[in-house]
Amino acid sequence: MDLKLRNKRALVTGSSRGIGRAIALSLADFQVDVAINYLRNRQKAEETAQEIESRGVRSLVVKGNVARPDHVERLFQTIDDAWGGLEIMVSNAASGVLKPARELTLHHFDWAMHINAAALLPLIQHFSRLPSQGEKTLVAVSSLGATRAIPNYTAVGASKAALESMVRHLSAEYAPEGIRINAVSAGTVDTDALKHFPNREELLEESRRRTPAGRLVEPQDVANTVVYLCTQYASMIHGQTIIVDGGYSILA
Ligand SMILES: NC(=O)c1ccc[n+]([C@@H]2O[C@H](COP(=O)([O-])OP(=O)(O)OC[C@H]3O[C@@H](n4cnc5c(N)ncnc54)[C@H](OP(=O)(O)O)[C@@H]3O)[C@@H](O)[C@H]2O)c1
Repeated sequence: MDLKLRNKRALVTGSSRGIGRAIALSLADFQVDVAINYLRNRQKAEETAQEIESRGVRSLVVKGNVARPDHVERLFQTIDDAWGGLEIMVSNAASGVLKPARELTLHHFDWAMHINAAALLPLIQHFSRLPSQGEKTLVAVSSLGATRAIPNYTAVGASKAALESMVRHLSAEYAPEGIRINAVSAGTVDTDALKHFPNREELLEESRRRTPAGRLVEPQDVANTVVYLCTQYASMIHGQTIIVDGGYSILA
């Protein structure tokens, strides 16, 4: 199937592993050049880049913390120098302290808010300034904790709610400039991120048991929706959060 993404250029933040990696590889499957951003694990990022290049497209590996405006500036400068433009940006990198609210400090809260929500501001500002061939699309990766109460998830959940709100506000502001902005909100996905949950096993078991579709969400399920939102077939979808959870959140 031709999604007409060939020759587009993408940046996926936090794409060395997990959901970001699946998104990066899926874009490459449709002949998109993909810049891989990571924070610590260069080897994983290089491995993902090799897999991208094996699909016959270009890749770049750029280390940088999305929460640091100077790193974000360098990230976009590197892409501009190498490729001279960008059509797709996926804001996927996230972090956060997973603790009961009674143990959370304001520092923990600020940390999650900064990386998961506020960081989108410098990202969209730089993205909007880069040249592009035609429409630009931005997809942010959110989670069900934005709208539902999940144990130990107060700080991250609040930051994802802020992220989804930013997606609506930024979408209204940037649509007239030709930038289409949406979010994909995923149910529980068994990635490295879950190792930080004190109640990981319980969370996985509960998600499996309650999901009407009968299985956990896979990174590929999230990637499929992100890819769709990047295509012209989604051209009138603006400022939305699409839920990919096998029906988990429709249950009472
Ligand atoms: N897993 C779930 O159940 C789930 C559910 C819903 C939504 N999500 C969302 O999906 C996204 C990806 O989650 P995941 O589970 O795939 O996470 P993951 O497996 O922990 O991977 C995180 C990725 O982000 C990078 N990263 C972390 N902090 C960064 C920073 N400050 N700047 C740049 N890169 C950074 C990591 O790089 P290094 O390898 O270098 O550390 C890695 O590539 C997040 O937005 C998360 O909230 C996850």
